[in-house]
Amino acid sequence: MNLFRKKNIAELQNMAAHSALERNLGVWDLIFLGIGSVIGTGIFVLTGIGAALYAGPGISLSFVIASVACSFAGLAYAEYASMVPSSGSAYTYTYASLGEFIAFLVGWNLILEYTVTCSTVAAGWSGYVLGLLEANGVHLASSWTTVPAEGGIVNLPAVLITLFLGFLLLRGTKESIVLNRILVFVKIAIIALFLFLAIPHIKVVNWHPFLPFGYHGVVAGASIVFFAYIGFDAVATTAEEAKNPSRTVPIGILGSLAVCALLYFIVALVLTGVIPYTELNNAEPVAYALRVIGYHYGAIIVALGAICGITTVLLVLLYGQSRIFFALSRDGMIPAAICKVHPQYHTPYLVTIGGSVLVALIAGLAPINVIAEMANIGTLSAFFVAGFGVLYLRITQPNIDRGFKCPAIKFVSPMAMLSCGYLMYNLPALTWVRFIIWTVLGIVVYFSYSYSHSGLAIPKSVKLASRRNP
Ligand code: ALA
Repeated sequence: MNLFRKKNIAELQNMAAHSALERNLGVWDLIFLGIGSVIGTGIFVLTGIGAALYAGPGISLSFVIASVACSFAGLAYAEYASMVPSSGSAYTYTYASLGEFIAFLVGWNLILEYTVTCSTVAAGWSGYVLGLLEANGVHLASSWTTVPAEGGIVNLPAVLITLFLGFLLLRGTKESIVLNRILVFVKIAIIALFLFLAIPHIKVVNWHPFLPFGYHGVVAGASIVFFAYIGFDAVATTAEEAKNPSRTVPIGILGSLAVCALLYFIVALVLTGVIPYTELNNAEPVAYALRVIGYHYGAIIVALGAICGITTVLLVLLYGQSRIFFALSRDGMIPAAICKVHPQYHTPYLVTIGGSVLVALIAGLAPINVIAEMANIGTLSAFFVAGFGVLYLRITQPNIDRGFKCPAIKFVSPMAMLSCGYLMYNLPALTWVRFIIWTVLGIVVYFSYSYSHSGLAIPKSVKLASRRNP
């Protein structure tokens, strides 16, 4: 058995060099793209849950810890993206460095990451829409707006937004750079508005005690709010479309991370300064805080901005989910038939429909904190492997052309593994159990299907012959 067969990096580089895509994204486009796909439910919803249930006002420090882990992983991603500039993200990088079996598991976990992240984001979207409606006197029956674990039947708004965006993607809606820029401005503007309105209402007494759950609470909070940073890896997937990618991609990844980390830290600090952390366990804490301090219209504007911002994250991540399915099927890891491209819309319609329905079901039926934790463990495991693989490649293939070389790799790589591993370790035991079940399922799929159907298992001559005589 050859579980460690690898993709050839020179071939991948050659493929990217002859990519049909145009190189027209500059540094700012990438930073905006990063912010566009990162800032969403994490800051507008999980800040409150994280403070109330895990870290208290110390949640601001949780954001700092999570950003450090992401920076190390981000540096590893940047080197990979400059060396293997093709789609598929960590899955493709791992295929070229650590071989097929590990790559399959990374891809399998990326499916988990994208699917459950989308579900969490959809649930967050629903929370803001319902909060806005309620605040303006529109009450929907709670059985249709809450999940069974909270006494309802289904979270219908979350289901509907997911199916609607899935439908748009099916029709070939492309993320527009201009639209993204506008929405990123909207997001940053409403965060600025929140800070402007809320800062004068900070009561220092709300920060006492600052660490009600101790240091452990801060780290547990970091494992939860890590979710707020998911999406920055989307910048790495633009490597084929970026101008001078060896410079722009690393700056794009690290620049968007820095902006997000700063915003998260300040918002978390202000939010917990305005409202006692014990009151923040609700679905739209930022708007709620403004309402409590008397800014009814401010709350409406912030909620509308949050809804726009969360919508773009959901759209980009649903798109990302179909791309991961696509990359896996292109390599024969999952049946190619499910990734058929629609003759009219030129989109992988079956996975787009199937993926959106799956997300809609999870968002409609599962509680938000449980699904957010699953997203985190899937992503952290992919970052952990990326951190290892980049150092492994430096040692085993030192002469590959690397547009960007991660500085102090012997420090950064172990730190990426340690910090991501530590955050994984701090996730609840039940999350680990679910993660292990998911991984075992992946191993079964790999050995019963993917291993024998892999593109690398089938000799080129056979593939060519079957293409000629379908
Ligand atoms: N980071 C993204 C969000 O917070 C997933 O919504």
